[in-house]
Amino acid sequence: MTRNKARIAVLISGNGSNLQAILDAAATGALAHGTVELVISSSSQAYGITRARDAGVPVDVVRRQEFATQAEFDDALSQIIDQYQIDLIVLAGYMNILSKQFVERYPNRIVNVHPSLIPAFSGPGFYGLKVHEAVVAAGVKVSGATVHYVTEVCDGGQILAQETVPVYETDTPQDVQKRVLTEVEHIIYPRVIEQLSKEIAGN
Ligand code: GRF
Repeated sequence: MTRNKARIAVLISGNGSNLQAILDAAATGALAHGTVELVISSSSQAYGITRARDAGVPVDVVRRQEFATQAEFDDALSQIIDQYQIDLIVLAGYMNILSKQFVERYPNRIVNVHPSLIPAFSGPGFYGLKVHEAVVAAGVKVSGATVHYVTEVCDGGQILAQETVPVYETDTPQDVQKRVLTEVEHIIYPRVIEQLSKEIAGN
């Protein structure tokens, strides 16, 4: 589909600092080919909801526990996404599982950011601070973040961008988490989203 700008939905569960980086990129013009049309939160408590409202972006809360089956949850999510004519689904700290059926509806149209250098410290069980705890425990000297397409394989889709940060001997998992977030995720995610938006918008 050729459009002026790609229509983006950002799916969140928590703080939403990546959402903020994307909204900031839109505000400064760095995200020139995409527009954030919708934020979906898996929780009514997510601070990211406030960030979205402050930016004037509509928010919908879709809670998995309100649906009897994964299929009904998938359908509810799809209905909103299709209603807003979304071109690109951006997962930003989104904690719900998306089914194979859901991801297959949007081939190469769902992206995620993971706070490690995939395939290291990725896959089932590696989320949030657990990733950085494992990094520190392993004693690796570099970590980083990865932006990738989402497929039914957890953290398994094609890698779109990856950048590193050093890990120091004195680092706590929280230190690594902060460095990865602020020095990598917040930089590379808006950049990849702009790139994909440009391709989708066809200009
Ligand atoms: C980020 O570290 C992201 O890589 C991971 O969850 C965290 C979300 O942080 N998937 P935020 O909600 O964007 O601040």
